[in-house]
Amino acid sequence: MDSILVRGNGPLSGQIPIAGAKNACLALMPATLLSEEPLTLTNAPRLSDIRTMTQLLASLGAEVTALQDGKVLATSCHGEINPVADYDIVRKMRASNLVLGPLLARLGHAVVSLPGGCAIGARPMDIHIDALTALGAEIELKEGYLHATARGGLKGAVHEMRFASVGATENFLMAAVLAKGTSVLKNAAREPEIVDLARCLRAMGAQIEGEGTSDITIQGVDRLHGATHPVVTDRIELGTYMLAPAICGGEVECLGGRIDLVASFCEKLDAAGISVEETARGIKVKRKNGGIRAVDVVTEPFPGFPTDLQAQMMALLCTAEGTSVLEERIFENRFMHAPELARMGARIEVHGGVAKVHGVARLKGARVMATDLRASVSLILAGLAAEGETVVSRVYHLDRGYERVEEKLRAVGAHIERVKGE
Ligand code: EPZ
Repeated sequence: MDSILVRGNGPLSGQIPIAGAKNACLALMPATLLSEEPLTLTNAPRLSDIRTMTQLLASLGAEVTALQDGKVLATSCHGEINPVADYDIVRKMRASNLVLGPLLARLGHAVVSLPGGCAIGARPMDIHIDALTALGAEIELKEGYLHATARGGLKGAVHEMRFASVGATENFLMAAVLAKGTSVLKNAAREPEIVDLARCLRAMGAQIEGEGTSDITIQGVDRLHGATHPVVTDRIELGTYMLAPAICGGEVECLGGRIDLVASFCEKLDAAGISVEETARGIKVKRKNGGIRAVDVVTEPFPGFPTDLQAQMMALLCTAEGTSVLEERIFENRFMHAPELARMGARIEVHGGVAKVHGVARLKGARVMATDLRASVSLILAGLAAEGETVVSRVYHLDRGYERVEEKLRAVGAHIERVKGE
């Protein structure tokens, strides 16, 4: 297994291009199941998770061709469709469950493996099941697979979700666009990835209103046509790289960055003593005068502070002046990076969903282990400012969500290299 070696190398300077969003692309690709005509996605990220989704869609009978060095995905699904999403693929990536809604809408039936738990939480699918059941689906769990049937097709309905789940909102949207009649989803997720999916579906001929708010209205149509859609910027990759100059000093411009995608995060950076400025090409970040100040953070659904930036924010606060309190409200087990940061000399107390970070003067390099995608990059960020050398192992987690991380950080002056595994 590969590992990544990082050595603290002082202030950073330069530009980092931000790619298209993994979490948008993983919802956009299954939309190809909704039409016989081609769907082309531009500004696509080049990540192992995208390759896994490509493998899954191919197993269902769709074609996905990566063009222009992988930045364009040409997808289509005009032949026979296999309704079974197999455990061997689904267990690799939870987002595979986003084929359930479109398969049900297109075929009237689907058999999708339950993904099982993951490092950051149990992550059940009850909210997805309730939402699709509201549209008239009958869903039964048999031998680890969800067997879903919509006799006579899906029917429009008004449904309120118990929690604003991102995935359940995406499955409901992709099911309701071909349902008979009107659907209203209440307490819907408001993430930019949901807005991006709704825009793509509208470009395919769907009738949707209210995306980005808690109430989304969908008027079902008989069929959808082809379209070309640019994947929205990755706000989590953006936030991650905005933290690099915050942690190491210097000034970095994140190309393609937009403040509206990361507003609550920028508020916390400002409170921590970090200057964030919108530019013609993106967002420029540097430290204000003085050190990093401690801040308290609570993770919430969008537009609140994103859970996917919690680990990276913790890396910053390890060397803040004072004590910061981070509360993780989305996932029940998302502090696995804390004991690894402690190996680098951080002082962190974790009690359930709350972590107290007592700032120290400087971290020290150490060998550490990545436990999940966002934890892996928080260890790299910490290593960029630590004294000496940090070696992060199990970086296959990282490759799921960050393209060319070494190249992007080296371009702004970081000392970082990949050590190839056996
Ligand atoms: C999406 O996951 C993202 N993944 C996650 O990013 C992100 O952390 C999460 O949204 C929250 O923002 C993708 O988009 C592929 P949820 P998703 O359904 O859709 C519970 C990353 O690092 N829940 O909003 O799975 C669930 O257990 C990943 O890129 C139920 O209880 O998130 C969790 O505690 C990690 N029952 C909470 O809701 C359900 O049926 C939020 O889950 C569904 C969810």
